[in-house]
Amino acid sequence: MIASIDSELPHGSTATSPFSTTPSEADPYPYQVGFGNRFATEAVPATLPQGRNVPQKCKYDLFSEQLNGTPFVSARASQLHAWFYRIRPSVAHRPVRKSQLNQNLETSFSSANPNTQFLPQDESWGKFLMPDESQRVDFVQGLRTIGGHGDAMNKDGLAVHIYTANASMKKVAFCNNDGDFLIMPQQGRLDMQTEFGHMMIRPGELAVIPAGIKFKISLPDGPARGYVQEVFGSHYELPELGPIGSNGMAMPRDFEHPMASFDIDQTTWTVICKLAGQLFEYQQDHTPFDVVAWHGNYVPYKYAMEKFVNCATVDREQSDPSIYCVLLAKSNVTGRTLSELLIFTPKWSVTSNTFRPPYYHRNVCTELMGMVYGIWHGSATKLEPGGLTYEPSLMPHGESYERWKEATNADLAPERVNNDAMAFMLHISGHISLTSYALTESGTLHGVQANFWDGFDGGFIKHLDQVNKDLVGLGLPDLSRARTKVVRKTP
Ligand SMILES: [Fe+2]
Repeated sequence: MIASIDSELPHGSTATSPFSTTPSEADPYPYQVGFGNRFATEAVPATLPQGRNVPQKCKYDLFSEQLNGTPFVSARASQLHAWFYRIRPSVAHRPVRKSQLNQNLETSFSSANPNTQFLPQDESWGKFLMPDESQRVDFVQGLRTIGGHGDAMNKDGLAVHIYTANASMKKVAFCNNDGDFLIMPQQGRLDMQTEFGHMMIRPGELAVIPAGIKFKISLPDGPARGYVQEVFGSHYELPELGPIGSNGMAMPRDFEHPMASFDIDQTTWTVICKLAGQLFEYQQDHTPFDVVAWHGNYVPYKYAMEKFVNCATVDREQSDPSIYCVLLAKSNVTGRTLSELLIFTPKWSVTSNTFRPPYYHRNVCTELMGMVYGIWHGSATKLEPGGLTYEPSLMPHGESYERWKEATNADLAPERVNNDAMAFMLHISGHISLTSYALTESGTLHGVQANFWDGFDGGFIKHLDQVNKDLVGLGLPDLSRARTKVVRKTP
């Protein structure tokens, strides 16, 4: 029997616009969602040309302007670009000159750079100090390079920075021509105005600003501190999911992209550009934030890292830490990442018959860890919110002896770990060199405790009689007859 339409009931409904997020008190801006989409947004309806990007004359005499993040001849899947429809073209500015605004930025990390050094020693820093209240320091002035790998001019490598700031940028926009910024606030929200629209980033969220995009940062909560990773010649992408399937880890629809938003402002603005770690500036008689509509896939975005779906081990053994990867950037070597951002958020630890803390290891990757909030229990190296730890490529690290004893004798039951805490690791595929700011000027470097690892008890030695017994029981020579040198400590 065919059901008849009940004329008493409503006949359904059709969406009138794509999904966008709902503004809140903490974040007053709406966003488009997805990852790698080609977005389209208009602050004034019907200002995006249809069927072409460069009509003879744009609606309302807007100027069309393209920004690309990959060369024109690139594989289609990797092509990144955006089209702006703006009140004035970006090129309408006064001549460029050198700026002395910040001389603490590095983008070249070869051993020939006297401002950086390679160091095969674990290091850690307490929380980086806020600027003195007597000084006005904005985001651009408060950036400090900690270290890096490769060279921005070779389009291969990365830099890690921290920022501490106590002032909003005024009529100033920043444009980084060296690489893509991944910014993670640790204290204070960042109210970002970009050419693509507004984004509010709080501690616990990250923002990615691809190279060449102008932005301005205001500080609605006062003094701010956070972390930045800058990748040269590469762009952030989601990791492959492999056997995990299509759901889990960082999910594409949790990434939020701004909506078109423009100001009408014909006063003097300054644009600061970064190239090879040097700052340059120019002035123009109009705001750079005058984009009425845009479309494309070379776009800034943000992500709330609490949304990360943790797929770590649920039976036994330990997953490799790549299971915590939110975003990665590929290196110039096929199949190898340049850096992975790993996030450590609350999770259930349930593995049976498993040493649950990180095992002792020597990693070809350099590990830089930072902390957004909470208390970190997971390492012998001291880490606190706003601080940093450094574990160099191929150097050994792991848990303290006390922690080993505790972990090897614990009754293993399901346990909630990392509650109310968020830490992250930049897992960098190579050696990094550290700047003189990091090693001498920051004032927060912890000294190395010379005898920290001295107390390890080689428990195996206490079992030698039993080992011999077992060997003989198996028909093998005992240790005194085997080629094993046993040298006992003299009392
Ligand atoms: Fe490690």
